[in-house]
Parts: sequence; structure tokens; C-alpha cells
Amino acid sequence: MKDKLIVFNWKMNPAEAKEARWLGAKVKTISSRLKKVQTVMVPPAVFLPLLTSTKPSRRWSLSAQDISLEKETGAFTGEISATQVASVGAKYVIVGHSERRGRGDTDDVVRGKLMAGLMAGLSVILCVGEKARDAHGAYLDFLRAQLISATKACRRADFKNLIIAYEPVWAVGDQAAGADTPDNFFHNALFIRKVISGLAGQETALSIPILYGGSVNSANAVEFLAAGRADGLLIGRASLVPEEVKAILLLADQVKVKVKVKK
Ligand code: 13P
Repeated sequence: MKDKLIVFNWKMNPAEAKEARWLGAKVKTISSRLKKVQTVMVPPAVFLPLLTSTKPSRRWSLSAQDISLEKETGAFTGEISATQVASVGAKYVIVGHSERRGRGDTDDVVRGKLMAGLMAGLSVILCVGEKARDAHGAYLDFLRAQLISATKACRRADFKNLIIAYEPVWAVGDQAAGADTPDNFFHNALFIRKVISGLAGQETALSIPILYGGSVNSANAVEFLAAGRADGLLIGRASLVPEEVKAILLLADQVKVKVKVKK
């Protein structure tokens, strides 16, 4: 079985560098002991260099929360390029997060950032998710459109460096209605694989990691990994609570996925 990918998105937290160092040290200690989990910390870009280590670990790595559309250096005040975040140790970048889409990242921008990330050698965690769920399944058309638009410029080989995070927007953050159910996630992940199959072939569709995100905590994490068969989790609020981080990582390391075989 592949390692589970547990991604801790710190968003615009913590307030100060010393807290980031402290939280980072905790995550490193716990994640280094695990056998079946890859941990990714996603701090604000300014903290990335504080968390890199002279002893690279096989168990944890770093991601940026966002990158610029601009690929080359230049007069782009306030922007941070994919090459720059890679140069300070990030291996991943998140694109298409609902909180970035909400601050103006259009589908075209998401596609541009995805390509900028891939060109710089980063693995790209592409977030997709509907704002509201409807009983007739129209939200699936929305998901399909998001996936197609974001990957329109990808060649088949590019998909090997993509990870999809299914984060229904209604389940994200402290105003959320709560998490989705593992069963719904399972079906939506199947749907995502079907769309990817049409874009990049069946083999890629079966192997591309699909994460669940939205109100994940230590009480529901195992269900998404076991019953929901998620390849990993994208976690917001619980990332900032060391006890939660520890519990989720230890649980993820022990999770057993039951595969039902029909006779
Ligand atoms: P919460 O876990 O706080 O709902 O946030 C999810 C998320 O947005 C992770 O990127």
C-alpha cells in the first residue's frame, strides 16, 4: 500500500516565527517516527526557510500555499515564484485552494499557477470542490469543469506530479457545516478518477493521489482514510493543535483499508 499523504495547511498562521519553529519541530519529531505516512507542512512562505533542515527527511517535506503566475524573476512586487519557493526547500505547492479562489484566483489563474509549479519541479496539490451540494448531482459537472480547466495545459506526463485535493467549500473552515462523509468522499473520488481517466488515461487515473479536505480532525481522520479510502488528508485548523497533529499522524500510520471483494 502507498504511504498516506497528510498535508497540514497552516494558512496565515502562526503569528510569529518562533511559534512556527516550535510547531515545525513538533511535526518533524512525530512524522519522523512513522512508517506509512508522508507528512507535508504548508507554512506561510516567509517561514519556509525556518523549517528546512540540513538533514533531509524521507518522512516529511514542505509545501508553499501559493505561487506567482510569473515564471521569471522581474518587477512583480509582492509576488513569490515557484522557483523561489523550490529554492528554499518546498517540494509541493497548493493551487486552487478555495480561499485563494475567493481572493480572486480565476480558473485561468489556477491553470497558470499549476503550470508554473510543475515547470519549477514542484508537485502540485490541486484543490477542487463545490460551494454547495445539490441532490441532482449538478455539483459533479462543476467538479469536472474545475478539473478540466486546471489541467488544460498539462501533457499526460505532467499528471504524475499532480495530487488532487477534494475540498468541498462548504466543509472548509470554522464557518463550515462540518465534514463531508467518508462515503460521499469515496464516490466523489471515483468520479474524479473517471474525469482524470478521460484526460490522462486509466493508469494515471488509478494512481493519482486524491486527498480529502474540510473539517478533518482526529475524530474523523481514520474514517476518511479507511472507509473513504482517501490517499491522504488536507488539514487546516487541526494543523495548529499539536495534540491533534500527533493523533492524526499516529492514526494514519496504523490505518487499515478494508477492500471489499465481491464473490
Ligand atoms: P479546515 O480543516 O480548517 O476545515 O480547513 C481545510 C482546508 O482548507 C485545508 O486546506
